[in-house]
Amino acid sequence: MPIEMTVATVAGAVAGDRSGGLQLDGFCYRDGRLVVEDVPVEEIADAVGTPVYIYSTAAVTRAFERMRRAFAPLNAQLHYAVKSSPNLHLCRLIRELGGRMDVVSIGELERAWLAGTPMADIVFAGVAKTEDEVRAALDGRFSPLAGRAEAFGREDLLTRGPVGLFNVESAAELERIAMLAEQVGVPARACLRVNPDVDARTHEYTTTGLEENKFGIYADQVPGLFDLYRDHPAVELAGLQVHIGSPVREVQPYVETVKVLLGLLDRLEAAGHRPSVLDLGGGWGVDYSEGESSTPEDYAAQIVPLLAERANNGLEILLEPGRSIIGNAGVLITRVQYLKQGRKKRFVICDAGMHTLIRPALYRAFHFLWPVRPPAQHLAPSRFERPDLPGLVECDVVGPICETGDFLARSRPLPEMGQGDLLAVFSAGAYGVSMASNYNDHGRPPEVLVDGAKATVIAERQHLADLLETERSPRTLTTPASEADRE
Ligand code: LLP
Repeated sequence: MPIEMTVATVAGAVAGDRSGGLQLDGFCYRDGRLVVEDVPVEEIADAVGTPVYIYSTAAVTRAFERMRRAFAPLNAQLHYAVKSSPNLHLCRLIRELGGRMDVVSIGELERAWLAGTPMADIVFAGVAKTEDEVRAALDGRFSPLAGRAEAFGREDLLTRGPVGLFNVESAAELERIAMLAEQVGVPARACLRVNPDVDARTHEYTTTGLEENKFGIYADQVPGLFDLYRDHPAVELAGLQVHIGSPVREVQPYVETVKVLLGLLDRLEAAGHRPSVLDLGGGWGVDYSEGESSTPEDYAAQIVPLLAERANNGLEILLEPGRSIIGNAGVLITRVQYLKQGRKKRFVICDAGMHTLIRPALYRAFHFLWPVRPPAQHLAPSRFERPDLPGLVECDVVGPICETGDFLARSRPLPEMGQGDLLAVFSAGAYGVSMASNYNDHGRPPEVLVDGAKATVIAERQHLADLLETERSPRTLTTPASEADRE
């Protein structure tokens, strides 16, 4: 069960007041220090230590509602991309807001289900679904949680039914799903993930819709597969899915993609198929710095007109947003351990690093950093990389990991920091904790969810004993022949 913490409440203030600067849903500077809704960050850090991820319920709620409102004319269903921030309690919150779930592994699928999502509301993507994963997605008897789901409050594992949709990435995967659906005796519903060969103009590691990427099925191969599986007894091909990359800050790549999909729908219908689902995937950008990304309204303004008629005629539209729901709803808080004045650079050495938040190291991603209690003349500005304030000091903000690539920011102007100070890493809600690792034997950080004046620990810091558990008891798999003879 999550543990509620008692923390002091700052009475009566609303996000943004007296901040004189940074305006983010759920986060502001109040009386000179960072608060999440009504809870001072310092009190959370004192209670659970650092590094720690903190999320705002209000920010999640507003971001979800904003996406929903923007795409309401298409009656789009929002399937939260669990990979972006998979905590059970965040999934539960999004579920309560009306979210469905998008998963890419059996682990994520079980989380989504434990968070209360009916199987029918889950779409299952991923390029390498194993036989075990497909079986478990079809029938709870094969779940890795068999015999253990009750501990998480679910008694209905055996009767939960199959996943709502498989998003299928290759002809070979479709063949496997068909074979297993027949074997298990549970029909599967699937969309084909289309590779539209559209450039999402994002980092090359997170571009997924180009021909050279491993994802999806080329558009010209899609009709043939629909023909092949027409009237198949175990698989129903319900429609098309696509995901071109993440984050996709511009609208144009989506527009090009939707046009490819519309052409395909026409072709399929002309061949007598009745596709009823169109899943546009995720990738919807958010601002890490001010004004850098298109907004939900920008995307919708160009996509809705392209699909409105088909949606009115019953085409079901799905979206798989992750970052746009949770990205700006979370901060990472780290404590400065040492300051080091090098000959060429000044280093701020923190207890968070690439093991806590890998995005800067992996993609050179920008995250705005600012002290939790900055000097009075350095109240948090907006999230610009180089704020126009006097007396900032250029620093490399680095972590404890034994790699030079272990940094949160490079050459970043910051207020003068002191040993023991807290530093906030903004926009860390998506792909923060979900990509954290145990590298150098660090436990994964705790997570705290704030709702008004209430702060709840929704994940404990991983204990060293848990890290060591899988190595505690070696077991012999093979016995050398010489020893076997002697026995
Ligand atoms: N649907 C599919 C099939 C996906 O592969 C993804 C993300 C999403 C939805 C959600 O995308 P979102 O709305 O969150 O952008 N680690 C990278 C991002 C990798 C995204 C992987 N797939 C990062 O930190 O930027």
